[in-house]
Amino acid sequence: MYIYKAAVIGAGTMGAGIAQVITYSGLPVILRDVTQEAVDRGLATVRKIYQGRVDKGKMTAAELEQKMALVSGATDDTGFSDVDIVIEAIYEDLEAKQKLFQALEAVCPEGCIFASNTSSLPISAIASATKKPDKVIGMHFFNPAPVMKLVEVIPGLGTSQETIDDVVLFSESLRKIPIRVQECAGFLVNRLLMPYLNEAAIALQEGAASAKGIDAALVTLGMPMGPLTLFDMVGIDVSVKVADILHDAYGTRATAARILRELDQAGRHGLKNGAGFYDYADEKKGDLDSLIQKVQAEGTTKTKFSANRIIMPMINEAVISLQEGVASAEDIDIAMMAGTGFPQDKGGPLHYADQIGVDVVLSELEALCKTLGDRFWPAPMLKRMVQGGYLGQKSGKGFFQY
Ligand code: CAA
Repeated sequence: MYIYKAAVIGAGTMGAGIAQVITYSGLPVILRDVTQEAVDRGLATVRKIYQGRVDKGKMTAAELEQKMALVSGATDDTGFSDVDIVIEAIYEDLEAKQKLFQALEAVCPEGCIFASNTSSLPISAIASATKKPDKVIGMHFFNPAPVMKLVEVIPGLGTSQETIDDVVLFSESLRKIPIRVQECAGFLVNRLLMPYLNEAAIALQEGAASAKGIDAALVTLGMPMGPLTLFDMVGIDVSVKVADILHDAYGTRATAARILRELDQAGRHGLKNGAGFYDYADEKKGDLDSLIQKVQAEGTTKTKFSANRIIMPMINEAVISLQEGVASAEDIDIAMMAGTGFPQDKGGPLHYADQIGVDVVLSELEALCKTLGDRFWPAPMLKRMVQGGYLGQKSGKGFFQY
């Protein structure tokens, strides 16, 4: 099915970003939210993204207006009778998403695809509330949506092959890289990203290094921004929700850092409200150091910092996901480069493991396990690979052939 018209529900940062991506590819889109104020804010966000391109001389003011003419704001069902795909980007609440799709079924055409931009809720559960689970799918964009090339395509248990194919083609028409991912908590990228981000937060609360020191070490390794800066961009409140969902699914290795919850409770939700791990506004909402001291007073031991401590959990989770068949080794690496800016010269976490040596990754994880705890327990596949001589580039075979 060719997609001629789309709708995005939820005009926040992600919804507005997705609407901009759709209009940029030349398709009309409805951007809907509950209040006119929210819709106007979303439309202003889309305009701001285009204005940035005009300011850089990448498009003219007339082209900006042509693109803006493709997006229409709505607070009701007007215009939904001929949409081919609806992408919801509302808050992370299963029941709210179920009710939304139920209501949309009554106003959208029979063949309309219902895509969810959820970061972590199960697609099958969202679909279970609808009459057409074959038309429900995960279509997960990454922040900032206009820049990050990846779209995770996540079929639920009942999603039809036709819907998967349509969403893959649609994503390509948006000039994105669609990667099909098996449904699991956090899907692929958040599942790999969160242990990395979380370890940075644990290192901070244990006094291993300062926030700036931690971020600088990962930027030196080639990451486009430090993990604590990224936490602030994603949102501390959103991250706590994702972390809890991962903990429910994967147990103690995914226990959220205490400092995350403290920041959330202190109202430091990140860049969007002026404070998170860093301060972005003049008006201060408490201070990070006193929250760290509070966590330390309740019992943490001082630990040592290393960049390996932060990056190894991501590699380990990549191997566990590979073992589980969440995605192929190639797709895992492409997804991390396109979705998080994992350095191209390292080729993704699994190519990176091959570069430094699968045996080195295993021994690093074993050492971290002894000093910092069982959350670093190595994926069984790593041991099998080392025993079998799959050491990476140096032995000519690892996760990939050389
Ligand atoms: N909206 C639109 N465009 C933006 C933007 C935004 N918020 N931020 C940056 N850009 C654009 C800039 O205009 C610039 O465009 P041009 O190349 O056309 O000039 C381009 O992106 C590069 O921006 P900058 O030069 O200002 O900055 P940078 O090179 O440092 O890149 C970044 C910024 C793309 C955000 C980069 O730091 C990065 O890739 N960070 C990692 C982001 C990441 O990991 N995202 C995934 C988060 S997890 C998630 O989203 C999933 C979830 O469910 C929670």
